[in-house]
Amino acid sequence: MKKKIVLAYSGGLDTSVLIKWLQQKYDADVITVTLDVGQKEDLKAIQEKALKLGVLKHYSIDAKEEFTRNYVFPAIKANALYEGKYPVSTALSRPLIASKLVEVAEKEGAEMVAHGCTGKGNDQVRIEVSVKALNPNLKVIAPVREWNMTRDAEIEFAKRHGIPIPVDESKPYSVDQNLWGRSIECGILEYPDKEPPEDAFEWTLPPEKAPEEPEYVSIKFEKGVPKALNNKEMNPVRLIESLNVIAGKHGVGRIDHMEDRLIGIKSREVYECPAATVLIEAHKDLEKLVLTRHEILFKQHVDAQWAFLVYAGLWMDPLKEDLDAFIDKTQERVTGEVRVKLYKGNIQVVGRSSPYSLYDIHLATYNIDTTFNQMSSAGFIEIWGLPTRVARALKKLERG
Ligand code: ARG
Repeated sequence: MKKKIVLAYSGGLDTSVLIKWLQQKYDADVITVTLDVGQKEDLKAIQEKALKLGVLKHYSIDAKEEFTRNYVFPAIKANALYEGKYPVSTALSRPLIASKLVEVAEKEGAEMVAHGCTGKGNDQVRIEVSVKALNPNLKVIAPVREWNMTRDAEIEFAKRHGIPIPVDESKPYSVDQNLWGRSIECGILEYPDKEPPEDAFEWTLPPEKAPEEPEYVSIKFEKGVPKALNNKEMNPVRLIESLNVIAGKHGVGRIDHMEDRLIGIKSREVYECPAATVLIEAHKDLEKLVLTRHEILFKQHVDAQWAFLVYAGLWMDPLKEDLDAFIDKTQERVTGEVRVKLYKGNIQVVGRSSPYSLYDIHLATYNIDTTFNQMSSAGFIEIWGLPTRVARALKKLERG
């Protein structure tokens, strides 16, 4: 019996070439797996393409709901932004893809899984660490890392083997997308001093072409996750898809980021993440209403660490689970409504409310009519400033 290799298949040129290459080099049967994580591609066409290239079997998996509930929602709770900017959209999908590869490999009795990641990026790390964590017996092969084929050589190989070359291969960009965002790389974008040209963007209008009127959007959160948009309860996938459209129309969610890749290379990354930008901004704001100052300050560190782990391919590490436990506990009170205003590339939170609000107008008001006893502030200042006074006095003595 022939060996079986389970391949993460996107339908693009690289992984199509991979099918043929694996069949030849390993004299193996290839089983392809394509996940729908909201990348808006024709899964049927991808399936047909795989079958045409002679795969033994193709799995088309609708993972949108699972991706949203189990990957995107935790990212919202963690306000996840790698290096303060990138909503880790691609990074979030990799452990899910890895777990499906393992599932299929186990079901089909395959001993190898393969992916089309290069040796220069983060995705190879994310997929391989996750696959190995789930099933250490599986062998992972990463042909693109080894085969040293140039783009032209690949196209040549494709022509020789009757692999259809996608028309958009003429576009100079490498794109990865899912519900949580769209990443655009290559071409002119590799020059960080140059503004990304308009043809790099698909989900967002340039701010200057956005509507002249602002749009208000209200988001209801329940325990840290979005439940309703403009007072309409929605399935999580629909909610994020709708918000991508609404915010994208106002030019919100374009990100231009100097990013530190895991392997130590700096790269200029461009993203469109309209829904992620709005939801994280709104969620952070709601947390500020309901969490104590101590919780907020501590959680910022936890959030940054969470985003780093996910970026770094350590979704399966116990530390991520530990942090999730802390984060979930804090989210018990993150319920309420946030109103945002979208206008020409900007998002502004303009109102928030919650049954767990810690805001007390009787305390905060500068009016005379307050429940706060201002006299106690004098004693507070005395003690609060004590260490500073002592240190300053010493400095004065030293200076003489
Ligand atoms: N720099 C981003 C990340 O590491 C985007 C990666 C895009 N991946 C891709 N295969 N095109 O998450």
